[in-house]
Amino acid sequence: MTEKPSAQKNSEGLLRRHFEGGTADIMNKINASIDVDWRLYAQDIAGSNAHCRMLVAQGILSPSDGEAIENGLEVVRAEIEAGAMQFDPALEDIHMHVEARLTELIGEPGKRLHTARSRNDQVATDLRLWVRDALDGLDQALRDLHVVLIELAEDHVETVMPGFTHSQPAQPVTFAHYLLAYVEMFGRDRDRMKDARTRLNECPLGSVALAGTSFDIDRGATASALGFDRPTANSIDSVSDRDFALEALSVSAISAVHLSRLAEELVLWSSPAFAFVRLSDEFSTGSSIMPQKRNPDAAELVRAKTGRIIGSLNSLLIIIKGLPLAYAKDLQEDKDPTFDSLDTLLLCVHAMAGMVGALEVDKKRMRECAGADYSTATDLADWLVRVGGLAFRDAYDSAGAIVRLARDSGCVLENLPLVEMQKIEPSVTESVFDILSIDNAVASRVSQGGTSGVRVREALAAAKARYL
Ligand code: ARG
Repeated sequence: MTEKPSAQKNSEGLLRRHFEGGTADIMNKINASIDVDWRLYAQDIAGSNAHCRMLVAQGILSPSDGEAIENGLEVVRAEIEAGAMQFDPALEDIHMHVEARLTELIGEPGKRLHTARSRNDQVATDLRLWVRDALDGLDQALRDLHVVLIELAEDHVETVMPGFTHSQPAQPVTFAHYLLAYVEMFGRDRDRMKDARTRLNECPLGSVALAGTSFDIDRGATASALGFDRPTANSIDSVSDRDFALEALSVSAISAVHLSRLAEELVLWSSPAFAFVRLSDEFSTGSSIMPQKRNPDAAELVRAKTGRIIGSLNSLLIIIKGLPLAYAKDLQEDKDPTFDSLDTLLLCVHAMAGMVGALEVDKKRMRECAGADYSTATDLADWLVRVGGLAFRDAYDSAGAIVRLARDSGCVLENLPLVEMQKIEPSVTESVFDILSIDNAVASRVSQGGTSGVRVREALAAAKARYL
């Protein structure tokens, strides 16, 4: 669920019964986080169940209280999912809502659940669980993107296109090689996410407010019940740091930047000036006035949403940077950027997989452009080194002079007469014409990681084994 099921009530909260005066409406407004953190309900209930079972196992709660609590929590979950929970700003957040409703439902045992627990360790645990699920979902989505990129690459091992530097045609490459560049980037993103998940996977529950507790709790039991590798080491750190979220948002920002670069390529390549690809109807929009337009809105939005994702990381860094240890309410503001960043990235990854999966590629047009602007001039210089025996710097000068001559004569390198080339560089022979084609330029680049068909086929096999 990403939409809050709505039902509202207003009352004095549970937390200020010892106060004489009521709260100002505006205080409720600024203090309540339920509009945002209701999304933690499943994690909150899972955490409460684990805590309750541990309290029973440790003899801190009676088995009958434990049973009443677990049954009650299931009712609360069902009510939230059915949209029947009465949300109330005076109850501030999801933790108080679950506890208050539980106590309404089951009475006395509900009041015992919060033994040896604080909202501080509760929220730190809930958010870790939420971020962990989000990272797992992103890994799956990036895997789906890997699948479509690799499938497209398999169809285009022979498709030649211009490779660019400075957005100028540089050397011919294959489209498969180009796509595999993104496969590498998204592969590193997935690795970073896995790495962040490993560090995240420690359980703060049992840190309580900040100092731990005098009750004989078993933190190992709650940690393993919630799928964590171990409990966190320091109770003060556990309730006050959010670096697990910062890491998730950092890797998300990097991944969004990769998506944004690919989105930018799709915007350019689908424009009539390039015409390398055509986005499917499903991923194109029309103009309200110009009937001929096919706009790449989804790609543009992926590019733009990257700004939001980077902004969320920035927000969270700034929220945390000035906080003294341990907990401060500032930390309540961690959820908005965390949810927004990870939700938005997931949306962008899905949209990108959709666009790439349905891309139509104009091989002919790519090939025409691959030979443009003397893109095999480096091959001529390399030939002059290999066959002509020149030092590379001299070969570079001679090849440059030959390109200038061809440009002035308005012809491609292959059509420049041998004698004309020899006037510039006497060591040139007929065999130079064997290496000036774009196909040769591609096939000859057999160095590891290079664009030749042999290397790209190997890279494809390696990518499939590694990422799929
Ligand atoms: N809603 C709070 C948050 O998200 C829960 C923790 C409240 N703790 C407290 N000491 N007021 O941070």
